[in-house]
Amino acid sequence: MNGISVGILGTGKYVPERRLTNQDLEQMVDTNDEWIVTRTGIRERRIAAPEQATSDLAYEASVQALKSAGITADELDLIIVATITPDMFFPSTACLLQEKLGAKKAAAFDLSAACSGFIYGLANANALIATGMYRHVLVVGAECLSRITDYTDRNTSILFGDGAGAVVLGHVPEGRGFKSFKLGADGAGGDLLRICGGGSRLPSTEQSVSDRRHFIEMNGRDVFKFAVRVMGSAAEEALSSAGYEKADIDLLIPHQANIRIIQSALERLNLSEDKAMINLDRYGNVSAASIPLALAEAVEQGRVNEGDCLVLVGFGGGLTWGASVLIW
Ligand code: UT7
Repeated sequence: MNGISVGILGTGKYVPERRLTNQDLEQMVDTNDEWIVTRTGIRERRIAAPEQATSDLAYEASVQALKSAGITADELDLIIVATITPDMFFPSTACLLQEKLGAKKAAAFDLSAACSGFIYGLANANALIATGMYRHVLVVGAECLSRITDYTDRNTSILFGDGAGAVVLGHVPEGRGFKSFKLGADGAGGDLLRICGGGSRLPSTEQSVSDRRHFIEMNGRDVFKFAVRVMGSAAEEALSSAGYEKADIDLLIPHQANIRIIQSALERLNLSEDKAMINLDRYGNVSAASIPLALAEAVEQGRVNEGDCLVLVGFGGGLTWGASVLIW
């Protein structure tokens, strides 16, 4: 990518206080801590308080990101919120966030690409800044997945949690910033991971609600196979289009869905586990929020240094996937 160098100026994160542990889930569905830990790596997730919605989580993460970028909300030109759990159909969560932040000069829209949404958002923001159209863009991944999770279904209820991560994108010195993006989609796999109820195909009715169609439906095994295939290949393609090698990676920031999926990506990239930021044991899968949350924690923990080569990679419903190479 030529021209203006675009990178991350600041990061932020927020997770709600309430923890839902594997032991709690043992009381709710037919499962056990040992199964969940060995099959997924997850030990607990965070659950939003009843009065919290996605824009509230997004707000907390965004305030931190703005502070760490050293800019004010009125310097934002655009807000992109990647989410599958908007506060409501419309107005967009990005508009609700714009109002909460007082980002009066910012345009705002939501982006729907499930767990790949944050990387899709980065790609959009990067392009808009690189063309000179905008200077500062806030990209947020925020989810209240507990609101769309069926806590009678042991296949899905063990996986998901709530949280938010945010970054501010802007100009960075030459040689730094985003080096490539690889985005992909395969609509043929749309029925592997979805919510059918409440949309224009199946509007909410008493029947659709009693059939539990407003909750996540997932074919876990097929999503797993897809994820294993695409995580490695998307990362490799992003590396090669940036002109980097696997050995150049200092830190992998993967979508936090399942430790076994992350391990298979590490294997494919010839990386040891200490080269990946992993926090799914504490937060579970937070969909679009998982990559920015992991990135913000990596920064907080001092695991990201100037000049480091980061690879961000994720996959999700759609099906969708995305990867990016970023020099910090
Ligand atoms: O962001 C993208 C979102 N989705 C994903 O990333 C999901 C990707 N898939 C996965 O992570 C895994 O497929 C799961 C964690 C969902 C499931 O793990 P698995 O190793 O693929 O298990 P499985 O579905 O093949 O099930 C194995 C067994 C089954 O029993 P039988 O048929 O062998 O008797 C399941 O009924 O484990 C059973 N099982 C459970 N047992 C205890 C399924 N869920 C549970 C559970 N506790 N929660």
